[in-house]
Amino acid sequence: MVAAPARKTGQEVSHWSTGYRLDSSMADIGPLDVAPTALTPPEPHVVVLFGATGDLSRRKLLPGLFHLDRAGHLSDCRIVGTSPEEMTNAGFRRLARESCESFGRGRVEEDDWNRFERRLSWVSGTTGAAGLSDAVDRAEADIGEQCRRLHYLSVPPAAAPAVIKTLGEAGLVERSRIIMEKPFGTDLDSARELNAMVHEVFDEDQVFRIDHFLGKEAALNILALRFANGLFEPIWSRNFIDHVQIDVPETLTVEGRGGFYDATGAFRDMVVTHLFQVLAFVAMEPPVELAPDAITVEKNKVFRSMKGIRPEDVVRGRYEGYHQESGVAEDSDAETFIALKCGIDNWRWSGVPFYLRTGKAMSEGARIISIAFREPPKSMFPEGSGVGMKGPDHLTFDLDESSRISLSYYGKRPGPGMLVDKLSMQFSLNEIETQGDTLEAYERLIRDAMGGDHTLFTTAEGIEELWNTARPLLENPPGVLTYERGSWGPREIHDLIEPNRWRLPFQRRWRG
Ligand code: BG6
Repeated sequence: MVAAPARKTGQEVSHWSTGYRLDSSMADIGPLDVAPTALTPPEPHVVVLFGATGDLSRRKLLPGLFHLDRAGHLSDCRIVGTSPEEMTNAGFRRLARESCESFGRGRVEEDDWNRFERRLSWVSGTTGAAGLSDAVDRAEADIGEQCRRLHYLSVPPAAAPAVIKTLGEAGLVERSRIIMEKPFGTDLDSARELNAMVHEVFDEDQVFRIDHFLGKEAALNILALRFANGLFEPIWSRNFIDHVQIDVPETLTVEGRGGFYDATGAFRDMVVTHLFQVLAFVAMEPPVELAPDAITVEKNKVFRSMKGIRPEDVVRGRYEGYHQESGVAEDSDAETFIALKCGIDNWRWSGVPFYLRTGKAMSEGARIISIAFREPPKSMFPEGSGVGMKGPDHLTFDLDESSRISLSYYGKRPGPGMLVDKLSMQFSLNEIETQGDTLEAYERLIRDAMGGDHTLFTTAEGIEELWNTARPLLENPPGVLTYERGSWGPREIHDLIEPNRWRLPFQRRWRG
């Protein structure tokens, strides 16, 4: 990647454009011969992990911080864990080690662990603002008082305002950034209220609203593929694209998360957050540079151009037996499945349907973006040649860890005559030597937040636009249909997508 020219504005620059330094003496050598140098680690940090004993912290955040440390992506750092529980430093270190062993990548080596565990300390939430401030002071005394602070709010939505207030009272706003977990409100009014509350204590540029889908290597590859090549962008519009599918079925149920899920539902849990964010990467105009402000402007333009979601374009579903899950209200109306059709009312996308689907307890787990191209006239082919028989050409992104991409097309079947078959060109991250450098989504995003890089985070304005788009659906939601566990959702999803068809389940498997 070539270093971008110095910017005149002095604004924050994403490390996408500046992180890799090219040795200028090598500048004439083809890019394949130039190894990008390592990213500079962020400044020393005290990370305050709210909700440190919770599920997200144990599965992703503690193992992620451990991996960042082990891989040399953190400079000096202290991690203060906190939650309402009473615990000792030793107890927190034990919990962190168990988390890294159970959910981290690879073995926990003693040397790595010994260095990491010295960074960990605990303060109980019951000690209030004063206790928290003392704990952060102690951590800062170890690494230098001018270090930065990163507050990670891994807490239920209802607890976030109290944590923000405590941070204000504890005098922990200066030199700080704050990562907030979704949902960012439940509708437009509550999102505005939450944003206003956050802004009473923190400036917007201190706030990092995390959406872990955008930290996935494969999601970033959408931007690389679209904007780093001359091949795709010219055909990336209504003139060549027939429709788009963003399909994220999950096999897991809400077991163990009934309480959270019942108050949230599939639309708020997955669509307003992850699926719409991915849609913005697919649909946005080329930003003037790969820098936070420029990307945010383009993403927000997509959100603003989205048509309100019409209830008649939505299928809500609930898997059989949902009401028996613990934490779920007897009369719950929450959906565990949603499929919808939406559109973007601008010059590039007018008339192109975007179909989104996600749900729990479904037949397969997948995260697919599928771009269906318009079909050519087929009249020149003799009848029975097979042309068009297996649907349109598709460009498919698999957002899974292997970050696969496939381009399917019709090609000639070997032998006499002119019979055609659906073929594909495929790519998988596993084929690249540097795939071991991949950061897990949370790791990447924590590191970006430490560097002050907002590129992959959502702004208050973006969130409010999305809730506005959702308004017609939220005001008048269609009834919830029951679907069998292990299915692809209620039958009505086929009417929704007519005259097109859902790509999943795939008729042909990925290779390899
Ligand atoms: C979370 C949702 O944000 O994303 C979960 O709350 C969902 O309900 C999860 O299962 C899916 O993320 P991933 O990365 O496992 O596909």
